[in-house]
Amino acid sequence: MSTLVVVGLGYVGLPLAQLATRRGVSAIGLDTSAGVVAQLNDGRSHVDDISDAEVAEMVALGFTATTDDAVIADADTVVVCVPTPLSEDGGPDLSMVRSAMTVIGRRLTAGTLVVLESTTYPGTTEELVKPLLEEASGLRAGEDFALAFSPERVDPGNQTFTVENTPKIVGGSTPACTERAAAFYGQLVEEVVVAKGTREAEMAKLLENTYRHVNIALVNEMVRFSHELGIDFWDVVGLASTKPFGFQAFWPGPGVGGHCIPIDPNYLSHRVQEKLGYPFRFVELAQEINSSMPRYVVQRIQSLLNEEGKAVKGSTVLLLGVTYKPNIADQRETPARPLAEQLLRLGARVQYFDPFVDHWRVEGTQAVTDVAAAAGAADLTVLVQVHDAFDVPALVAASGRFFDLRGATSDGTERL
Ligand SMILES: NC(=O)c1ccc[n+]([C@@H]2O[C@H](COP(=O)([O-])OP(=O)(O)OC[C@H]3O[C@@H](n4cnc5c(N)ncnc54)[C@H](O)[C@@H]3O)[C@@H](O)[C@H]2O)c1
Repeated sequence: MSTLVVVGLGYVGLPLAQLATRRGVSAIGLDTSAGVVAQLNDGRSHVDDISDAEVAEMVALGFTATTDDAVIADADTVVVCVPTPLSEDGGPDLSMVRSAMTVIGRRLTAGTLVVLESTTYPGTTEELVKPLLEEASGLRAGEDFALAFSPERVDPGNQTFTVENTPKIVGGSTPACTERAAAFYGQLVEEVVVAKGTREAEMAKLLENTYRHVNIALVNEMVRFSHELGIDFWDVVGLASTKPFGFQAFWPGPGVGGHCIPIDPNYLSHRVQEKLGYPFRFVELAQEINSSMPRYVVQRIQSLLNEEGKAVKGSTVLLLGVTYKPNIADQRETPARPLAEQLLRLGARVQYFDPFVDHWRVEGTQAVTDVAAAAGAADLTVLVQVHDAFDVPALVAASGRFFDLRGATSDGTERL
């Protein structure tokens, strides 16, 4: 039986390990966090898409998690899914890829396939990963071991598209590496798509993320001037969506969150600037527009309270839904955070209700449990995220004044 080691057991690594385990591949998870490892071996999940029962099922099927990198030596395949955040200066922080690859390189044996899945700029696999592995192992990529990049397309909370039924792109260092990686993923997923090389595979992921970033910025810019022109932009997007070709609907909102959209395109713009000396203007503009949305929402809140003869200072604002996506608990980069922080700075009393969030780490905010009572007492209720569990008409009815940032209400309610 072939052995897989998944390095980094988060939103991306854990579902992959789960799929492999279910497919009869002997999968071991390697993570630097002793807490994550202990929790998983205990049958408890720390990611949204996988339940405790599913982790327990993985463990029963033979999955184990460890912090001991000795497991690399016996692996046929090593897939790396470690985080790729931004550094302090807004550039790529590849420190975790670097340290993972150095550790893998020291243990690497001939014949192993190493795949990087973490999102990164084009060139990383060839220019950073390959030399690290070769130097630490004394082996040659494409000769002694196989090396490939395969971008992750995990969409947390998506019930329709999973790792298994989302086409998987693979691009190897050499055609033989590509073939090896395609054969590995071919036993797990329904469709494997072969890239010309590692750079094309790396860039494809960044095109996908940048495309969403730019299109969300487009509707976020349009919703603002539509409001001033007295045009219902939600209606406009609905109308344009009836075109059966050439248009894909994107909806306005309070900003972008998660990892893929606000962070990943910066990897590409940084690379373009660093290598070529000019800016990737679309990404910069999208960043500027999307990150200014919380400030714009605060201005609209100020105006709404003003209509009631109230100041933000001293008013109670109830935020409904504070995660970056509906129906999940993930709070990474959620625009609800800058929104709450700006309201707090202006002196508002900020309350929140979110069935997915027990404790929101935004100092100064207060959780409410009786949402209807809190909505009735608040000066303004703001729908920041729509979870399926929300009964929006009931929440509107319970509220004094309601502000919908998601287009979930019908005409007559104040919308973004
Ligand atoms: N979360 C998503 O929706 C998503 C979607 C597509 C792509 N990605 C990309 O996938 C990559 C992983 O993201 P994630 O969301 O799974 O991250 P995550 O933070 O959920 O999990 C990463 C795990 O890696 C571990 N780790 C960190 N450094 C390590 C090391 N050197 N060795 C071993 N383990 C290490 C951490 O302890 C953590 O458990 C990122 O590049 C991200 O951009 C994420």
